[in-house]
Amino acid sequence: MPRPSPTIFVIDDEPSNLLLADRVLQHAGFAAPRCFDNPRTAIEAFRREGCDLILLDLNMPGMTGFDVMEEIGEATRRAFVPIIVLTAQGDRETRLRALQAGARDFLAKPFDLPELQARVGNLLALRQMYLELQEHSRGLEARVEERTRDLRASFEELRSARQTAIRRLAKAAEFRDSETGYHIVRMSKIAAVIGRNYGLPADDCEILLDAASMHDIGKIAIPDQILRKPGRLTPAEFEVMKQHTLIGASLLEGDESALLRAAREIALGHHENWDGSGYPHGRRGEGIPLFGRIAAVADVFDALNMARPYKRAWTMADAVAEIHRQTGSKFDPAVVAAFDAGQDEILLISQRFADIAQADQ
Ligand SMILES: [Fe+2]
Ligand SMILES: [Fe+2]
Repeated sequence: MPRPSPTIFVIDDEPSNLLLADRVLQHAGFAAPRCFDNPRTAIEAFRREGCDLILLDLNMPGMTGFDVMEEIGEATRRAFVPIIVLTAQGDRETRLRALQAGARDFLAKPFDLPELQARVGNLLALRQMYLELQEHSRGLEARVEERTRDLRASFEELRSARQTAIRRLAKAAEFRDSETGYHIVRMSKIAAVIGRNYGLPADDCEILLDAASMHDIGKIAIPDQILRKPGRLTPAEFEVMKQHTLIGASLLEGDESALLRAAREIALGHHENWDGSGYPHGRRGEGIPLFGRIAAVADVFDALNMARPYKRAWTMADAVAEIHRQTGSKFDPAVVAAFDAGQDEILLISQRFADIAQADQ
């Protein structure tokens, strides 16, 4: 806050000079200054309370004006407290040295009233502007901070609303499927672990976690007699079943958020094979988006671990061996390497979220 009436320090060893400065300043319309005949006391007062302007005598016994500037020159510059040097001797060298030491202006002794009024007045006006500017920028900073907080809050809100909507959508697909609920939880957690071990940044892994939960969202549109068929599908039925990838992708179309884009990649890519033998497009290698390649490993690994009406659950070791067996044909070797690197964590996820239904069987 700019001070209502600026505080001026006068530092001079000569009491008569102080008295004179006091009188002249008041006569010129400024508030009564604080006068110090001991520079040390002045420095302490400055450090403790600060001030708005310093009138400083150069020639003092013990501690000179230069010594004072040596001690508080930096602090006064930083806080924009101008120092006016009081000098009887007007030689160029002294003035130059004083300027270099941090003085902003000079006043010759004996004082000339209009000159003092002008020089002190100018520097105080400058300081006042500096203080107002500072206050203004503090106000701006506070406003920016507040806006940033608001934005972050609404962004978080939006994000969590979107996540909720997506989880519900995934759940809707799950209701129609004979797969039990924890498959989606496990599969997407496993996908996120693979992503992390693949070296993806944390943000991407979080997106992967949510997006993978929608890999089978297209099953919503697959007829019950195919979706819930207890036995193996006929080739014709399998052709219909394959459609869940395309249907899923089209359900997720039209929103360019990173999450929905990732979900689309996964819905479309999780049955593509590294060697090009997968569906729906028969893409191969890195032509299959990375999230799709990751989801493929997570999905198959977890599906092997599940008991189905037509098959028993595999042991974890067998499921891992199966993933390895299909590396390079079905699966991207680099993704399988990341799967291996995260295997301890993946096995833990598999155990912790083991299907209750499966445990009952
Ligand atoms: Fe699928
Ligand atoms: Fe699945």
